[in-house]
Amino acid sequence: MLYRFTDEIPASQLDRVVAATLQRRLWINDADYPDLPSWGERLHRELADGFKHAMVAYNRRSVAGSVIFKQGDDPRVLNVRRIAIRPIEEGRGIASFLLRSAEVEAKRRFADLQTVRVDAKVSNRAIRGFLNHSGYTITSIEDLYGLGAGMDAIYTKTIS
Ligand SMILES: CC(C)(COP(=O)(O)OP(=O)(O)OC[C@H]1O[C@@H](n2cnc3c(N)ncnc32)[C@H](O)[C@@H]1OP(=O)(O)O)[C@@H](O)C(=O)NCCC(=O)NCCS
Repeated sequence: MLYRFTDEIPASQLDRVVAATLQRRLWINDADYPDLPSWGERLHRELADGFKHAMVAYNRRSVAGSVIFKQGDDPRVLNVRRIAIRPIEEGRGIASFLLRSAEVEAKRRFADLQTVRVDAKVSNRAIRGFLNHSGYTITSIEDLYGLGAGMDAIYTKTIS
């Protein structure tokens, strides 16, 4: 299977990428993220404006997986959100390559970058296994969103 990885998303593809980003996922309960619909509504505009970026893996014309990233308020920090792989595409190294590609591309765009930060529910063991494999460790556990949906683990990785 030949995959294409890109962060150059033409306007005509934005609907498709946002839909893929918000897709139901095997390892995550969307009830854990009550603000998801409003976050998704903003995402389309923020991608178009270049405020957020998406790294996307295409399998032919369909989106196999995607990662959203943006520079934090602290310019040394990259925030990564919604690592999403289509269930039928899992276990093929797509998330690893997507995250690594996002790190490399972000470092190219944002010269000050030192740390990549990803948050996920503490209960999400799949993402913990994946992020540990990708060199991330948990640096704190907080209730980030204050929406009563469970504690969040903050994973970080230092990039040179
Ligand atoms: C977790 C997820 C990102 C993995 O995607 P993937 O493309 O299948 O991952 P990869 O093939 O790149 O896996 C790389 C490594 O991560 C680890 N890993 C992947 N899935 C795992 C799982 N379910 N449990 C434990 N470790 C896992 C393994 O070490 C794996 O290496 P191996 O295949 O040699 O064993 C994907 O299953 C997913 O989309 N999950 C739902 C999204 C989510 O929970 N997002 C959280 C909010 S950011």
